[in-house]
Amino acid sequence: MRIIEAVDITYTYPDGTEALRGINFHAEKGEMIALLGPNGAGKSTLFLHFNGILRPTSGKVVVDGEEIDYSKSGLSRVRQKVGIVFQNPDDQLFAPRVAEDVAFGPLNMGLPEDEVERRVRESLERVGMAGYEDRPPHHLSGGEKKRVAIACILAMEPEIMVLDEPTSGLDPRGASQILRLLHELNDAGMTIIISTHDVDMTPLYADRVYVISNGEIISEGTPHSVFSDIETVRGADLRLPRIAHLIEILQKEDDIQFGDYPLTIGEARRKLRERLR
Ligand SMILES: Nc1ncnc2c1ncn2[C@@H]1O[C@H](COP(=O)(O)OP(=O)(O)OP(=O)(O)O)[C@@H](O)[C@H]1O
Ligand SMILES: [Mg+2]
Repeated sequence: MRIIEAVDITYTYPDGTEALRGINFHAEKGEMIALLGPNGAGKSTLFLHFNGILRPTSGKVVVDGEEIDYSKSGLSRVRQKVGIVFQNPDDQLFAPRVAEDVAFGPLNMGLPEDEVERRVRESLERVGMAGYEDRPPHHLSGGEKKRVAIACILAMEPEIMVLDEPTSGLDPRGASQILRLLHELNDAGMTIIISTHDVDMTPLYADRVYVISNGEIISEGTPHSVFSDIETVRGADLRLPRIAHLIEILQKEDDIQFGDYPLTIGEARRKLRERLR
């Protein structure tokens, strides 16, 4: 079942910039999807359509079988289903204390106080920010703000979580921690959509990948099918995962044949062991 779908959407900013040029995109319930694209491709613009912050110039966005209703009550309904973590946490954090920022969504949903408190505590714990409840968000580091911004959305327990470059600015451990958390949420049934240019991480989590370039989807499929079309990937100013690049060089320059390029360390390890045996 398609839980969210963008049908033929175009979007032109008020200054005339055509940011989206006929996008078709969907997520099945329970999928974990990567939207891969270079700077300026339209990733953030597309995401802002998923909970009605932007309204398409043409085309439509369908959530849970219903076209988004852009009235005040319609938007408030869709925003309980679709939570978006913005690329820039400063667009999301505005309260004087971390705990108040995280409590904002659940309070708006009209949840009782003890439930709000539980969600704030658990969300901050899950992103590794327990103990920061009383800190002013604007005094946190970039990576810390990012985690709090994720906690804010987590606390609303949305059906669909959309994250605009959730690991950018995080250190390697922080990035792995967030990806592990997203995996757990996905295992528990949440649909997750992530934008990124981190091609090394993508094959570790994505069931399916869309590549966006210049406002258009230019490729879609499993990580293996998308990265097997190297020309399209490079044409979009992206690259292969490093490990696949190494195998490509071994295959092309040193004539060591592996077949399909492995995309992760684990896959490469298996292939190398087979060859060395
Ligand atoms: N508020 C705006 N007004 C006019 N043009 C905009 C606005 N925001 C974005 N754009 C333009 O729309 C296009 C898509 O931008 P968008 O922010 O969606 O790209 P992105 O894929 O998220 O890039 P990045 O990887 O840098 O975050 C770009 O050409 C950008 O300059
Ligand atoms: Mg962006």
